Amino acid sequence: MSKSANFSKIYKFYDGINSLLTLGFDKSWREKASKKLVGTKVLDLGSGTGSAEKQLVDYEVTALDPDEKMLSLNNFSNKIIGSAEALPFDDKTFDSVYCAFVWRNVSDVDKAFEEIRRVLKDGGNFVLLDMTRPLNRFTKLLHRLGTFITLHFIGIATLNFKEYRFLYTSLDKFEAPEVFLEKNNFTSFTVERMGIFGFVYLAVLKNN
Ligand SMILES: C[S@@+](CC[C@H](N)C(=O)[O-])C[C@H]1O[C@@H](n2cnc3c(N)ncnc32)[C@H](O)[C@@H]1O
Repeated sequence: MSKSANFSKIYKFYDGINSLLTLGFDKSWREKASKKLVGTKVLDLGSGTGSAEKQLVDYEVTALDPDEKMLSLNNFSNKIIGSAEALPFDDKTFDSVYCAFVWRNVSDVDKAFEEIRRVLKDGGNFVLLDMTRPLNRFTKLLHRLGTFITLHFIGIATLNFKEYRFLYTSLDKFEAPEVFLEKNNFTSFTVERMGIFGFVYLAVLKNN
């Protein structure tokens, strides 16, 4: 099993397939996430192709991503290659960090939490949006079946089996966000579930 997805292989159809998989709801989830941002200086962590451009239009955005090809399609003016585990910024640089559909790709989440807290100003927010499994046993089973079929089918159809297999297996990488986020270094956090069966979560971690 691949330990992470190679986005350079799927960058050309990433946005289209993402909209398909989320039935277009990703835009409203991003919108909701952007409302939790505070201040003006925002780090779009794992910005990818810059899908949050519309939602972050009112902010001074720095877009960071380790994948050069994903960034090549990204329209933010301030783009930097880098990863969550080693952020190339001074302490207390940003008012908020926005991170959508990235967390399952981060290999050292403890280090990433540490780095995010370091670059956030006091009173800043870390806004984390990602997919997970539903809480209910029955809907979790249905979700597992649905994502197994869809993601493996897309992987075969696009000749990128390993990448989409990773996206499937990574849905089980963490415990439920309500549980795994207890082990963070922030002052407090909230978690809200969205989407069918609550398979998407929006967490706000406060750096007070
Ligand atoms: C599923 S895409 C999400 C892109 C974008 N945030 C969005 O909402 O569409 C995941 C992105 O995370 C990036 N990524 C992977 N590992 C990362 C890491 N350790 N730190 C920051 N970004 C990472 C990938 O290169 C990819 O662009």
